[in-house]
Amino acid sequence: MYKIAVAGTGYVGLVAGVCFAEVGHSVTCVDIDENKVQLMKSGVSPIYEAGLEELMQKNYAAGRIDYTTDYAEAYRNADAIFIGVGTPEQPDGSANLAYIATVARQIAETIEKDCLVVVKSTVPVGTNDKVEQFIHDFLPYDAEGVTGNGNGKGKKIRVEVASNPEFLAQGTAVKDTLQAARIIIGTESEWAEELLKNIYEPFNIPVVSVRRRSAEMIKYASNDFLALKISYMNDIANLCELVGADIQDVAKGMSYDERIGSKFLNAGIGYGGSCFPKDTKALEYLARQHGYELKTVKAAIDVNTTQKTILYKKASKRLITFSGLKVAVLGLTFKPGTDDLREAASLENIPLLLDQGADVYAYDPVGKNNFSRKFPEGKNRNGNISYVDNPEAALDNANVCFIFTEWSEIKAVTPDMFKELMRTPLVYDGRNLYHVEEMKATGIEYYSIGR
Ligand code: UDX
Repeated sequence: MYKIAVAGTGYVGLVAGVCFAEVGHSVTCVDIDENKVQLMKSGVSPIYEAGLEELMQKNYAAGRIDYTTDYAEAYRNADAIFIGVGTPEQPDGSANLAYIATVARQIAETIEKDCLVVVKSTVPVGTNDKVEQFIHDFLPYDAEGVTGNGNGKGKKIRVEVASNPEFLAQGTAVKDTLQAARIIIGTESEWAEELLKNIYEPFNIPVVSVRRRSAEMIKYASNDFLALKISYMNDIANLCELVGADIQDVAKGMSYDERIGSKFLNAGIGYGGSCFPKDTKALEYLARQHGYELKTVKAAIDVNTTQKTILYKKASKRLITFSGLKVAVLGLTFKPGTDDLREAASLENIPLLLDQGADVYAYDPVGKNNFSRKFPEGKNRNGNISYVDNPEAALDNANVCFIFTEWSEIKAVTPDMFKELMRTPLVYDGRNLYHVEEMKATGIEYYSIGR
């Protein structure tokens, strides 16, 4: 079993740390926020993720995981340090690597023995070469196998950087890690490859071992492929509407072809979250930097941008104005099972509705707090926003309803409820939750995606 330090306790870092502890390693998670550290020690997860707190509590009680702000203590004697800090998108689409650089420097200044630095954060291809050089440059020792700026302490240590992207989805992060389809490791030496393989051995999951740049690319190529798949389905859905076909039937028919598969064929209100929007833009940016136009990914981004407000535009044509109308919004998060709002359709549409003077009543089982921080309850822009605790309160006497997230609490709303509760049963469904014929038969004016 190994001594592992993890930098960053967001989705990537915390889930990785907890899962390493779960398979028996000794883990220390580092975060700069003292409050967060105390919270995690008491068994409370800073992120909303099913099953995570149970594993945090179990492994903390067993002494296999601890949390600290003292990075020097955590890094000094670690066999491996995993970096899971954020690489937020910058206005031009490139990734901000400042957090990675900070951690790399802290590692260089504190480690005292051979150590593998493993980057889990999604970083542009080639970044990990630079991270390794950066660490060597700041290392007060000679790095094994390289000419460091040794300060004459007469000690050589080996420190290398490996790429180990993760593929967890929010809401199923623990399962996606403990039962991942594959583990990608990108290394430049046998030493690094063996060490990382040994760390992952107890997971009993197939390991794909490649060079470092290929590993970095696998992450982008996988995420962007899925984003492309969704945008393709959204594009076809929009055409289905024009020609009188039904995207759900089309998807079903496609899914039986194993080469296509049945997953990620759901047309909707566009993809959101922390990965697809960021990673498509980052790869497109990387290509541009190299003088190459990544046409497919660019198209996926364009389709997604349009798709996010497609229902709003439809509703705008149908209604003279939203001013003074009670608008029910069901679902705020970018998908169910998370409180994350990043790149959610709600963030695009609600400001448009408020600008038009709408009286928005929003319901989301967990996203309400995060959303109300961005859009405080009460008068907002030209309109008004209220947060309610159940779909019924949002729908009560509403003139129009938008569905943005397929939470089970929202799927539980029956066609009759729209009909009975709303002033005018006019529903724009971004997740294709209802049968078109059933809604029609109930007397609801119903618009969805691609049907
Ligand atoms: C994704 C990848 O699945 C994961 O492997 C990667 O590591 C991080 O990015 P996540 O963003 O958590 O995970 O959620 P995911 O379930 O993939 O959904 C992303 C977005 O695509 C959501 O907005 C979802 O609603 C949308 N989506 C997904 C569709 O519109 N249609 C689909 O068929 C599937």
